[in-house]
Amino acid sequence: MSTTQGFSDIVIGTQYGDEGKARVVDDKAQNYDIIARFNGGANAGHTIVYKGQKVALKQVPSAVFYPEKQMYVGSGCVINIAKLHHEIEQLKPAGIDLTGRFHLSSQAGVIQPHHILIDAMIGGKVGTTKNGIGPAYADRALRMWDDRLLNIRLGDLLEDREKYFQIMAANSQFIAKTHGLEFDATPEIEQMRQALDHIAPFIEQDTLYLQRQVQNGKTVLFEGAQAFMLDVNKGSVPFVTSSGTTAAAAYTGGDLSPNFHRKTIGIAKALMSRVGHGPFTSEFGGTASEQYCMAQDAEGNSLHSREVEATYNLEQMIASDDPLEVGKALRILSAEYGTVTGRPRRIGALDLVQLAYAVKTNGVNSLVLTKCDLLREYSRTASGKLPLVVAYELDGQRIDFVPGSTQSYARVKPVYEYLDGFSEDISHCRTLEELPNSLLQMIERTEQITGAKVEGLGVGPDREQYVGI
Ligand code: IMP
Repeated sequence: MSTTQGFSDIVIGTQYGDEGKARVVDDKAQNYDIIARFNGGANAGHTIVYKGQKVALKQVPSAVFYPEKQMYVGSGCVINIAKLHHEIEQLKPAGIDLTGRFHLSSQAGVIQPHHILIDAMIGGKVGTTKNGIGPAYADRALRMWDDRLLNIRLGDLLEDREKYFQIMAANSQFIAKTHGLEFDATPEIEQMRQALDHIAPFIEQDTLYLQRQVQNGKTVLFEGAQAFMLDVNKGSVPFVTSSGTTAAAAYTGGDLSPNFHRKTIGIAKALMSRVGHGPFTSEFGGTASEQYCMAQDAEGNSLHSREVEATYNLEQMIASDDPLEVGKALRILSAEYGTVTGRPRRIGALDLVQLAYAVKTNGVNSLVLTKCDLLREYSRTASGKLPLVVAYELDGQRIDFVPGSTQSYARVKPVYEYLDGFSEDISHCRTLEELPNSLLQMIERTEQITGAKVEGLGVGPDREQYVGI
């Protein structure tokens, strides 16, 4: 008996992360059998309220709330075993059991104690999440140091955990000695040893697991972590994460052949944000905002946390003619603070040049624009207009692309087009006809400049606050 084979679709963030992918994936997951991750690790993160309980997801795919859905974490990911165990445990009080429906590729990398140590030492300039992600991928590429294995994978631990925990301890000792640090990884390794007992049943030895499922008719939704502009090759290097975040990366890190690809859906935030350092052309307040958002005290805590900013005079800031102040006000109004780090996110206008780069590079077929309800806040600014970046200026020349060098990208100036602002609350709107004219114009300009169709707009945080097109 022949079975019709399945297919795979991909959801990726098209900007700098935090575009609201989880919500879109959560909604779309209903239509697929398997939800899969292909890159990153505990650096991703979103908090979902489920049955009145706050659940923070980092490494487990968003479809966890659908008991009948399977979940897969591919070889392109790097796993923090202790954190994953904690994540699975916190799902239990919400009545969520992963038995038999969660599969971790045995080829996925393991975050080792020295990865976190190195990230804490050198990740500051990039503004990493300090989860050891970069050092883990670096060790993957380095493979070995003499006869000491650097790239330890889940399958290794399954095979002979004590042997690989010993190598892990040696890796940590080596790094500590090299940098003259006092560091003993024993407590971390003990924690991993305990966590592994709970994780081991989920480790999938069959490297063709996902392939077989799809060949047998199952459908897959790949959930990209981080976002296109944080891709290790195509993003705003070096201010990026260390994995492949493009749609194409789903077919390496996701352990499925590209033959099954059907379409790519890109998520873009209508009011953009970025965490960490690096170019952000449309940022309100430019580099002053970057410095403000990244400022830390001696302990590494953010100086301008949500609590601090909540004490500011919102009305005064939003009407200010200083873009830095406007950015602060828009951040407070849109609650843009990092889920993993709690850092204030840098805020900017929708950049259609950057979005076109994402759409074209990833073959994005359709876009979902999230947080559109927040665009009404522009009506309270001094100009009252809704800004869109429609071109760049580089050293006096108008260009329509993201330049490949970090320095030129940092020098680029945005060329704005202004639409009329609107002050009505659109969070109750569910059809295109109900939306203000300027939002329709924004959709039109987005489609013209990027070449992708806009398939929907998010108009509020709830799943049903969505306008399908
Ligand atoms: P890393 O991935 O922890 O190495 O951090 C590298 C860069 O990617 C930093 O600027 C982080 O803030 C950013 N980053 C990593 N994960 C996310 C995410 O899930 N959302 C947004 N930014 C992220």
